[in-house]
Amino acid sequence: MRVLFCYIAIFTFLCLLTFSCKANSKDRYVEGNIKITEREFAATLNNLPDDMREKILANRAVFLSYIERLIIISEQDGNLIFFPVDRTRRLSATFRPADLLELDREGLRVSRNGMLLRANAVAALREMSNAAAREGLSFLIASAFRTYQHQRSVHNHFISTHGQEEASRFSAPPGASQHQLGTAVDFGPIALTFRDTPEGRWIRENGWKFGFSLSYPENFEEETGYIYEPWHYRYITREGALVEREFFGGLQFLFLDYLAEHKEFFRQRTL
Ligand code: DAL
Ligand code: ZN
Repeated sequence: MRVLFCYIAIFTFLCLLTFSCKANSKDRYVEGNIKITEREFAATLNNLPDDMREKILANRAVFLSYIERLIIISEQDGNLIFFPVDRTRRLSATFRPADLLELDREGLRVSRNGMLLRANAVAALREMSNAAAREGLSFLIASAFRTYQHQRSVHNHFISTHGQEEASRFSAPPGASQHQLGTAVDFGPIALTFRDTPEGRWIRENGWKFGFSLSYPENFEEETGYIYEPWHYRYITREGALVEREFFGGLQFLFLDYLAEHKEFFRQRTL
């Protein structure tokens, strides 16, 4: 009887030990300056596809050090550089970036004079254009910053020519266009054929190195709200484009949604 009691006691002790070790490992703080438990960190990844979640978990120290850096970049930029503008997250009618520059005066090839982009996007475009020029390529900028009012007239034009339903697949309503941010660019020709031009191929391979990200990739109309636009890129900084490529499969909407949803939480937990 006493032996049986001893066995039960030892068994119970071992069970409790295993349980508490497991609980501790789930509650351990993640390395780095962002102090969150493994459980909290894993919860931020719940909505991502399995392969992305696993890669991030396997490289969490690197990932979190990038997140820390992206939070600083975002705050220094007034939280606009990663803001996911879309039909539900709109810009106000009066929003206009303060640091717009004229592209033709910055030595860029444009389809008409007077087009504007933010200074950070212009600097990145110049670097990218110089790199592409060394390979004999030349980007044509066909559309850049659009005010709320300009977007409204473009959108209304497409509704009158294509009908509301069809127009909404490729044209954002006013306030919902990345072009109003001053960091989105349409390269010419604005057509599917851009994909197979030397410039189209080059930017698909190399754009991320300069901070450019394809906003509306093929086969993601349901998620992004728009058909494939191989010509439309958004400047999201070099660090942003690197993280998007390394950890989010190059999918801008996943990357920007993740940051928008968890940025404040990570910021509060940064030492
Ligand atoms: N073509 C994109 C969706 C825009 O209108 O901003
Ligand atoms: Zn565009």
